[in-house]
Amino acid sequence: MIAIENLKEKEKVRVLFVCLGNICRSPAADGIMQAIIKEHNDEHRWEIDSAGTGGYHIGDLPDHRMRIHARRRGYELNHICRQVRQSDFDEFDLIIPMDASNERNLLRLSPTDETDAKIIPMIKFVNMARNFDHIPDPYYDGADGFELVLDLLENGCANLYDLITKTR
Ligand code: 4NP
Repeated sequence: MIAIENLKEKEKVRVLFVCLGNICRSPAADGIMQAIIKEHNDEHRWEIDSAGTGGYHIGDLPDHRMRIHARRRGYELNHICRQVRQSDFDEFDLIIPMDASNERNLLRLSPTDETDAKIIPMIKFVNMARNFDHIPDPYYDGADGFELVLDLLENGCANLYDLITKTR
């Protein structure tokens, strides 16, 4: 993952998490990543945001079920939903889709080979569960779906943080 290697040396790391609605998975990843960064007193280095490829929920807070499940783990999700925009490809170093459909949509919007290389699926950072090839959409699932998403995202965000901050 060349984009990751290049970031190890950089003063500023700008990460955009992307899902379909920007009300479940990507705002949860955003909140979890912010918490990890805060825990390491590393806020000056990181800029985190999230967005959706779809525009159904623009201006909304995250889904109330996701907010409840996240709050139980200590994350307050207050992101206001927005759609991916063209300038995101310049303004972020890493653009992290939750599933293959989000990835395809991002690649369609991405203007250059250089910006294509910024797109790395979230599941690549997850090593706790080999039986998933994406972060499953919890929107039509019950409580277990939200808990699973949070488990996968906590694991993936911790690994992403370590990959960029720890040199081997
Ligand atoms: P998300 O979940 O992509 O994780 O935010 C969804 C939220 C809303 C919809 C689909 C997925 N929707 O169709 O409204």
